Amino acid sequence: MKQRLIIGTLSAIVFCIIAGCQSDATSDLNTSAATQEVKITEAEKIALGRAIFFDTNLSEPAGQSCASCHSPEAGFANPNHLTPTSEGAVKGLFADRNAPTIAYSQYSPEFYYDGNGYIGGQFLDGRAGTLEIQAGGPPLNPVEMHNASKESYISKVAEAAYSDEFKRIYGQNIFADSNKTYAAIGDALATYERTSQLSAFTSKFDAFQKGDASLSAQEKLGLDLFTGKANCFVCHPLSNEDLTTVPALFTEFDYENIGVPKTPNNKFYTLSKEYNPEGVDFIDTGLARNPRVIADGRVPENRGKFKTPTLRNVEITGPYMHNGVFTTLKQVVAFYNTRDSDPSRWGVPEVAENVNKDTIGNLHLSDAEEDAIVAFLMTLTDGYPLNNN
Ligand code: HEC
Ligand code: HEC
Repeated sequence: MKQRLIIGTLSAIVFCIIAGCQSDATSDLNTSAATQEVKITEAEKIALGRAIFFDTNLSEPAGQSCASCHSPEAGFANPNHLTPTSEGAVKGLFADRNAPTIAYSQYSPEFYYDGNGYIGGQFLDGRAGTLEIQAGGPPLNPVEMHNASKESYISKVAEAAYSDEFKRIYGQNIFADSNKTYAAIGDALATYERTSQLSAFTSKFDAFQKGDASLSAQEKLGLDLFTGKANCFVCHPLSNEDLTTVPALFTEFDYENIGVPKTPNNKFYTLSKEYNPEGVDFIDTGLARNPRVIADGRVPENRGKFKTPTLRNVEITGPYMHNGVFTTLKQVVAFYNTRDSDPSRWGVPEVAENVNKDTIGNLHLSDAEEDAIVAFLMTLTDGYPLNNN
């Protein structure tokens, strides 16, 4: 398991030259660029990917970019903290999940089964193997960027100010083949998503790890609880078993059902019958929806499981959980503390099967201890010391 994880992630962390880091889908694109002897630097590709990521003309109707749901100001999650799930380009149509942070998602290995469970992938159920593949999802998703076809999305890229740069990097004839163009857009977006702009490792916690900052007594207590009595580290570890040269990611990208309740009467699911026949009664079975898991015949044991998220920047990425049911970190920690000791406070889990009862649910934390864990979580926001108010 671990070897494969390292291999799967290597391409993500190497600051690579053009031919060295491509997915299969795009390697021939670069060959054609190379035969034209175009000199393309990594920085140019990153700038192109960034321009596409922030381009609000690429939705139908115009107005929504990737950054609309994954904004740097919100730790690359949705800057609209008011709705549990994210509104698409078409008003009133909502994604069925809360937009997660995509910072640090470059470290999620390609989706695989390790003999015990599934690991990695992109999306909360891992159904996109890589960032390149993932980037092809939102443009055509009717409740996200809502383009009718690859071709209509591509035609918007072809009209953009960066279109000449796109051709210079991916080949003058790139727009002749829509599948290649689509893959090239994904390649540019993924290249940007793998930069330190999204994985900064500049939190107070990082400074503390390097001996450049000290934690307050409350933050220190929170850290001790996090790695001790509260068991958080079991799923959100402080050192990566595999990526040993990378600072703590607070996840190993595996899947758990922690028994999160549904958002009561959520009006922010798409209530249109076409996209969500179940309406407010929609149940998200998480990993069990992944086509690979279905094909492997492992649906029952994976119902209700979601990918363990990083906790970096969690101060600014609310609301929390796949369905956005919690609005504050205090609620999240109180949920872990009292899910099983005070169940009436939380309601039934969205999916009752496979709920993890070993490490969470009845932690015997005092109110002050809950607050200390929240204080520790707030040291994980990138941009220290500027963000330290
Ligand atoms: C309408 C809001 C919205 C827009 C626009 C949007 N996303 Fe997302 N994004 C989401 C949601 C919701 C999820 C989780 C979906 C799921 O798990 O099924 C997600 C998941 C992701 C993930 C996976 C993160 C992880 O940890 O698994 C990546 C990467 C990502 N988006 C990148 C992009 C890119 C690139 C674009 C632009 C092409 C984009 N998103 C546009 C809402 C959005
Ligand atoms: C058994 C594994 C497990 C343990 C132990 C655990 N978590 Fe989690 N955590 C998860 C999973 C899985 C999710 C995502 C669940 C979902 O979306 O339904 C999550 C989500 C979160 C989130 C929301 C992040 C977001 O972006 O929405 C926070 C905050 C969090 N955990 C903090 C903690 C803290 C603090 C502790 C210790 C008190 C802890 N976790 C213990 C697995 C775990």
